[in-house]
Amino acid sequence: MSSNGTPTTGGDIPAAGSPAGAAAEPVPTTTGSMRRPKATGIAKGDNVPGVAKVDPILIADNVTRRFGGLTAVDVEHVEIPRGVITALIGPNGAGKTTLFNLLCGFDKPNTGTWSFEDKQLAGIPSFKVARMGQVRTFQLTKALSLLTVLENMKLGATGQKGEGLFRSIIPAIWRKQDDDIESKAMELLARFKLDAKADDYAASLSGGQRKLLEMARALMSDPTLVMLDEPMAGVNPALTESLLDHILDLKDLGMTVLFVEHDMHMVRHIADWVIVMAEGRIVAEGPPDTVMHDKAVIDAYLGSHQDVDLGVVTGRVEGELGTEAVELLAEIKEAEEAAIAEAEGDKKS
Ligand SMILES: Nc1ncnc2c1ncn2[C@@H]1O[C@H](COP(=O)(O)OP(=O)(O)OP(=O)(O)O)[C@@H](O)[C@H]1O
Ligand SMILES: [Mg+2]
Repeated sequence: MSSNGTPTTGGDIPAAGSPAGAAAEPVPTTTGSMRRPKATGIAKGDNVPGVAKVDPILIADNVTRRFGGLTAVDVEHVEIPRGVITALIGPNGAGKTTLFNLLCGFDKPNTGTWSFEDKQLAGIPSFKVARMGQVRTFQLTKALSLLTVLENMKLGATGQKGEGLFRSIIPAIWRKQDDDIESKAMELLARFKLDAKADDYAASLSGGQRKLLEMARALMSDPTLVMLDEPMAGVNPALTESLLDHILDLKDLGMTVLFVEHDMHMVRHIADWVIVMAEGRIVAEGPPDTVMHDKAVIDAYLGSHQDVDLGVVTGRVEGELGTEAVELLAEIKEAEEAAIAEAEGDKKS
């Protein structure tokens, strides 16, 4: 499968559930994440916080959100690049989820403007934002457990003609549409290997399967920007690789991905671009390899005055950035280089 080496435009995105075209070919579910090249040439200037992007899909200015005396988000300027995978990282309480909520219309900022695909979004409610092509999943999975897997999927479809008055008057319209939605839902469930569970209650799924369902449901509305809040949290390691591949697939299908994640292995493997938040602000930006060695990033995670989840950098080991953490960072780098070398070896053979 081809990969997007450069940011793409959002206009010609294939339907997420469509089996047609090369983009929908099956993707290997193991080690694929290590074999796909990263996008480059994303920023217009140096890797500094707020750097302009060659092709931004989302631009935010002066966005602040206060809770009482606490300023949870204070973002002067940020641009999310189109057609690539951006990771939003930072210690617990940095404001990542709050920023997500603001950008999707789930929460209102105290100040600020932001646009998605050149359309101003301030004041637009979340369901309209989703219809415009910007969808998100939640840190704590919100799959409705007393609905079946298929019913959950159908809830993800937007712009249904049968909504409201028409639904009760012209059943032919919504019956046809219901069928279309159902077959699209089943196609997506098959892609995420959940089709056998279509009629099971979502409550019966494992944590990882719920994450997959969340992602599949988000794709029901053919989004251009998919925002994932901690997609790996609570996922059984056996499912991790396939979840990574599904996220990489979104990019291959032409979508833009913005995700929040504490797992630095995952960030290194799949992100093309990394944005670091600390205490509500953007403190660093750049490609994963550069940004993870940035002093601001190390400080953001490891400053002694902060309540820091050290696992973010060290693989969930608590304490100062001691020898162990440094060794781990070196190990990650080594593993990554080995994976690249292996992938290159495979290509030649
Ligand atoms: N509804 C709220 N009311 C009051 N304070 C809030 C609310 N939501 C978030 N906060 C505070 O805002 C700050 C940012 O929280 P947020 O959840 O955005 O952080 P985060 O970066 O997503 O953290 P984590 O990595 O733990 O998910 C925290 O100090 C948090 O306690
Ligand atoms: Mg959060």
